[in-house]
Amino acid sequence: MSASSPVSPADAPKVLVMVSGSVAAIKAPAALRRLREAGARTQVIATRAALEFVTPLSLSTAGACEVATDTTWFAAQPQAQHLTLARCDVAVIVGAGADALARAAQGRAEDLLSATLLSVRGPVLWVPAMNERMWQHPAVQANVERLRSFGHHFLGPVFGAFGTAGEGEGLGRMAEPEDIAAETLRLARPRPQDLAGRKVVVSAGPTREYLDPVRYISNPSSGKMGFAVAEAAAARGADVTLISGPAQLPTPAGVRRVDIQSALELHSAVVQAAQDADLVVMTAAVADYRAAEVKTEKEAKGGETKTIELVKNPDILAALGADKGRRVLVGFAMETHAGVERAAGKAQRKNADFILLNYPTQEGTAFGGDDNQVTLVRADGSHEAWPRLSKREVAERLLDQAQALLPAN
Ligand code: C5P
Repeated sequence: MSASSPVSPADAPKVLVMVSGSVAAIKAPAALRRLREAGARTQVIATRAALEFVTPLSLSTAGACEVATDTTWFAAQPQAQHLTLARCDVAVIVGAGADALARAAQGRAEDLLSATLLSVRGPVLWVPAMNERMWQHPAVQANVERLRSFGHHFLGPVFGAFGTAGEGEGLGRMAEPEDIAAETLRLARPRPQDLAGRKVVVSAGPTREYLDPVRYISNPSSGKMGFAVAEAAAARGADVTLISGPAQLPTPAGVRRVDIQSALELHSAVVQAAQDADLVVMTAAVADYRAAEVKTEKEAKGGETKTIELVKNPDILAALGADKGRRVLVGFAMETHAGVERAAGKAQRKNADFILLNYPTQEGTAFGGDDNQVTLVRADGSHEAWPRLSKREVAERLLDQAQALLPAN
């Protein structure tokens, strides 16, 4: 659903918009207007700090509702606004700053926003806005990971100008009002259970090929893409096994996780899990080679040069493709040149239904980023470029494509 496609009043989702204390709060009225144009019923909470940036009148006008604040909360006792407002189909925190994230991660309840979040039953979407250095601080990132582990969703921050004049550009800019409205409404929709009864295997993250007990060959894969596929598939009703190399990510709700280190371990775990799978998605960045001989003791420093003999790892996707059966097989490929041609060649050689091609050099995407910009490539060379999307949205589109290829149950 796009933010501009109206819904009938009976289906109108009830959206709770919480406006947090950042300069980006000035975009909240535009987000409220977009939501209402798309047919949503809105309610608003504004923190005291938010009201330093945006007036209650502009929020109430855009939202066509009263604005609840810490002051109205106490005045309304025992009406318990934090419980009545929590009865919504989705809650979105616009302009979320580090403090709001920290309070929610700790489960605190001394202000209306935090207290309400503790009783919201529907999905929660955070739309952060803060200085890039603050966003990247380990304390903030730890809070984000904790909130993700509660099942909360995040939109942005995105790359661009942020904050007050002179702060410059970086990964701290809040998502735009139309994207906030679209993502909020997507979360409000009941999830299609179109993968119920299907077995999905997803590989994720890097592999580690040890040379000796303390050194290994690896790559910077974060695992985020594969975890997003696993999470999305589970939310659509699939029985999901996620086989992951070392990744600092919480296990998505309802997903069975198997941790591995090397390509050989990944190979045996995937082959075993894939036996009765309907869909296998290989997002893992598998090392092509491993040491011919793994030393059992740490190698001492020696001469000026050193040669390590490497041997080829098995190609897991190709092995599954060689005995494909009725399974749908999806791969990822990272290329620096001749992308479509090379990805089509891989799809053909590995007998994959399609490959999602991405480029390692794109800012904010691929390795470690929260977004990805991919091109779907089939063995016959046909392809479609998708826009830059959150990894979760890429995962949903991947599953839409794969689901259409599944044989009927
Ligand atoms: O490394 P390459 O570009 O060939 O990877 C394309 C796809 O093949 C990816 O989905 C990757 O997970 C998979 N692959 C694999 N086993 C390997 C190498 C890659 O399954 N040894």
